[in-house]
Amino acid sequence: MRVLVTGGAGYIGSHTLVELLGQGHEACVVDSYDNGSPIALDRVRGLTNGHLEAHEADIRDTARLTAIATAFAPDAVIHFAGLKAVGESVARPVDYYDVNVTGTLSLMRAMAAAGCGRIIFSSSATVYGEPEYLPYDEAHPLRPTSVYGQTKRMAEQILTDWAAADPAATVMLLRYFNPVGAHASGRIGEDPHDIPNNLMPYLAQVATGQRDRLVIHGDDYDTPDGTGVRDYIHVVDLARAHVAALDRAAGVTGAEVYNIGTGRGTSVREMVAAFSRAVGRALPVTVGPRRPGDIAAMEADCSLARQMLGWQAQYGIDDMARSLWVWQSANPEGYRGAAGESRASQTPSSEIRPKP
Ligand code: NAD
Ligand code: UD1
Repeated sequence: MRVLVTGGAGYIGSHTLVELLGQGHEACVVDSYDNGSPIALDRVRGLTNGHLEAHEADIRDTARLTAIATAFAPDAVIHFAGLKAVGESVARPVDYYDVNVTGTLSLMRAMAAAGCGRIIFSSSATVYGEPEYLPYDEAHPLRPTSVYGQTKRMAEQILTDWAAADPAATVMLLRYFNPVGAHASGRIGEDPHDIPNNLMPYLAQVATGQRDRLVIHGDDYDTPDGTGVRDYIHVVDLARAHVAALDRAAGVTGAEVYNIGTGRGTSVREMVAAFSRAVGRALPVTVGPRRPGDIAAMEADCSLARQMLGWQAQYGIDDMARSLWVWQSANPEGYRGAAGESRASQTPSSEIRPKP
């Protein structure tokens, strides 16, 4: 299929491109490079042998997006582009609603102009909010507690209403749990532009000496070791879930929603232990107070994705930790350490073709 990928130069997008191109799909990326890098796209090209086109554009620029989509004529869209920092979303609500909600509407207009009615959307487990029961299944009530979570919920609703109005439309809402790790090559990975808020990118910077120590946000939760429990999923497993959703989208219409996790919860201390094993030494850790807004534990019920998409996660936490360390140790400054490597960065819009 020909797949338009918004936000393809980011963390999850770049890993998904590797899997898409590996399965013979063709891709056209639209990314503002606000939090992604054209170097990631060059490296995707080096890892694969497929057709990858890239355009620097903001998804809110409907005219530009329409021109790109019309020229590429996609069979489907995977929509990763968005802002994703929970704390920042509370401080900058207008930007978050604008990019995540208005940006999604802009994309839908461009899709209509290009005659494309299939979309896979990056949603988040954060739409569930405080758990009424665990593991969360897709029928759990939606009560997001942050602006970021609200933007995801709104975009889900808009896409669901759109599918209801158009009998030919297909919408796959994928609710990701906690993506971590990197491609086994260490060529692509997560590249936070600011101080990381999330556990594993922060811990990775502790291991390279860029941060002094990890502060565990509370060890007095009602969990087996007192620290927070999450459903961490290897980013390569998550990327493959998109390929599975794309395959299903080719044969169905309407809106469907899937949890994408492993179904297994892991505590902060267990993740620190796994990452210390990967690095080969103990890492400096202290315990601080709880982080406001955090919940004690969350886990996904992923049985629907297993049944309907034929997909389930393959990797465990040691694989996640090892691959993260391969990436982080080779790229301690992320893609900024590879400035000058990029061909795509030299032109605002580029077509990247494989070597013969
Ligand atoms: P990321 O920031 O690495 O990637 C997002 C990409 O979108 C970046 O390359 C960025 O430059 C681009 N972008 C941002 N605003 C844009 C705009 N206005 N126009 C065009 N491009 C724009 O994030 P990620 O971790 O790869 O996340 C991808 C998607 O998955 C996001 O929608 C995010 O909300 C969602 N998600 C992520 C997580 C996570 O933990 N990483 C969890 C759940 C859901
Ligand atoms: C956060 C977001 C969530 C988003 C998810 C993506 C919040 C409140 N929620 O979730 O919306 O979908 O990232 O992966 O930000 N921890 C520490 N020390 C740290 C960092 C984290 O102890 O320096 C702990 C946290 O308290 C938590 C666990 O590690 O128990 C995971 O935290 P994090 O990686 O930030 O993810 P979430 O809180 O699940």
